[in-house]
Amino acid sequence: MKFFIDTADVQEIRSLAATGLVDGVTTNPTLAAKTGRPLFDIIAEICEIVDGPVSAEVLATEAPAMVREANVLRTIAENVAIKLPLTFEGLRACRILADDGAKVNMTLCFSATQAILAAKAGAAFVSPFVGRLDDIGEDGMGLVDEIVRIYNAYPRFETEVLVASVRNPGHVLQAALLGADIVTLPPKILRQLVCHPLTDAGLAAFLADAKKAGLVIPGAGT
Ligand code: E4P
Repeated sequence: MKFFIDTADVQEIRSLAATGLVDGVTTNPTLAAKTGRPLFDIIAEICEIVDGPVSAEVLATEAPAMVREANVLRTIAENVAIKLPLTFEGLRACRILADDGAKVNMTLCFSATQAILAAKAGAAFVSPFVGRLDDIGEDGMGLVDEIVRIYNAYPRFETEVLVASVRNPGHVLQAALLGADIVTLPPKILRQLVCHPLTDAGLAAFLADAKKAGLVIPGAGT
C-alpha cells in the first residue's frame, strides 16, 4: 500500500519525506491557497523533494482549457500528476491527457459509477473522498469497497484507488483491509499512525532499566 501526503506545506513534506514513508503527494486549490504562495512554485518545490506522483489540480472547468492548464503544469516536472474533477468535461480532458502519456488523478469521486468512468477514461488514479461522504452521513469506506471490487473484477482497468479525504487512522486501516492501492494522508494523520501508549510506556521502561544498569553501546558517539 502506498502513502501519499495530502498537503501543500513544503516544510511538512520535507520532514515526512525524510522518513522514507512518502510515495507521493496530493494537493488541491484549497491546500495551495492556504500557503499564500504561487501554485507553480509550490508544485516545483514538492517535485524536487518527492520522486513519486505529485498531484496538481487544474482550475478550468471546460475540457480544452483543462488540457491547456494541464500541459502547463506538466512542464514543471516529470512526476506531476494532473488532478481533474470527476465531471464530463474532466473525463474528456482525462482521455486526451492519458492518450498523451500524462498521469491523471480523477478527484472528487463520490460514487462507484463515477469511478468506472474514470477507469474507462484512462485515469491513473481515482480519488474517492471518504471523509466528505461520512460528513453527510454516508458510508465513505463502503464506496472504497465497491470501487476495489469493481476494479478487481475488470483486470483491464489499470486505475489505482487513491483513498482521499482521510479523517482518522481508522480510515487508513479500513483502506488497507479493503486492498486500496493508496491512501493520501494529512500529515497529522500520518504522525498519529505510529502512536500507541504501550509503545511509549515500553520504551520509557527499557530506557530507565538501561540507565539503572549503566548499559551503553560503545563507539556510537552518544
Ligand atoms: C485529495 O486529493 C484531497 O486533496 C483531499 O483528500 C481532500 O480532503 P478534505 O475532504 O479533508 O478536504
